[in-house]
Amino acid sequence: MSTSQTEWHRVGPVEELKQTELQEVRVEGKAVALSYREGKFGAVGGHCLHAGGPLGHGRLDGDRIVCPWHGWKVNRCDGLTGSGQAGVEVYELKEEDGALWISTAPPTPRKPVNHEPHPLARPVKREPGPIRVVGISTTGMDAEEPRYSTSEALLEEALKHAAAQGCETKLIKLNELKFKHCEGYYSKSAKACTWPCTLTQMDDEDNLEPVYEAFVHWADVSLIATPIRWGVASSLYFKMAERMNCVQNQITINDRVLIQNKVASFIITGGQDNVQGVAGQMLTFFSELGFTFPQFPYVAHSRGWSAEDMENNIKYVQQSEHLRQGACELVDRAVAKAKTLLESSECKTKIGRGGRKAGGGAVDAR
Ligand code: FES
Repeated sequence: MSTSQTEWHRVGPVEELKQTELQEVRVEGKAVALSYREGKFGAVGGHCLHAGGPLGHGRLDGDRIVCPWHGWKVNRCDGLTGSGQAGVEVYELKEEDGALWISTAPPTPRKPVNHEPHPLARPVKREPGPIRVVGISTTGMDAEEPRYSTSEALLEEALKHAAAQGCETKLIKLNELKFKHCEGYYSKSAKACTWPCTLTQMDDEDNLEPVYEAFVHWADVSLIATPIRWGVASSLYFKMAERMNCVQNQITINDRVLIQNKVASFIITGGQDNVQGVAGQMLTFFSELGFTFPQFPYVAHSRGWSAEDMENNIKYVQQSEHLRQGACELVDRAVAKAKTLLESSECKTKIGRGGRKAGGGAVDAR
């Protein structure tokens, strides 16, 4: 509702507005975070500097508005962040005839955060070079006192084989990375789940970056190895999987497929059964991220439900030429699939340059 003096917008009765510490109001279609504390109103731009979170739906911590998405803070009156270097817009207010009015003149301008984008945010472009294979070991163990892991041993075998075939290889043990559980920002709003992951950007102690780097940028083939724990993949596997929400979510909110022309395959071992259940979950999950699979995309081993003599399980895997060969053949199939995908993507790119629309979306897969 506006008065005939169009430069002021009537927000509402002062006494009523005083009852709410922080709220969102709309002025000429724009969201404004209106606050009232210790006898004073404040009105600042309603979109957070970080990723546009709705400041008016946050909370006050003293005179600072805490964004409801990831907790960034700005002053409720001058709009500035703690450093004072950046800030949201500030609106002029006046009280008249028992009502609060907000100026419709342009507010003081927003001062964006001035820092380099996170390295993971760079465009996805395959760098030239041989096929690159990352192995992700998801078994949990004491890194100081490592034990023999059947899934990790087969993964190492596969990587050794891939290297001997001329691939670049890398092994990442989740067990050696310190990383946080997913905070579930997605549950607040789809747009609150950012790429790169907000935890990766905001928390120097969080160390999942090598996994994101490998999945999204570096590797053509991702080999994920897991033990079977109570009929499912390892807890570290699921901890990592939850953190991949930011990759999948880019498809949902930005139509941006970060994973293209990449292959995933799996090594699954356990003292007890449910191999197909574990493989089914992994296949579904990695397909949702955008990976493709070779024919027969996993190798697995289990001696069955009643085989509790785990020392014999270790012995079996250590002595099994068949399993080692299976792991090597798996990586061969995955590498062959990756080559086919890359060749086909190069072909499409060339056709695209010739005047037809190239395949693929946001990713340059040359
Ligand atoms: S803290 Fe506000 S959008 Fe991230």
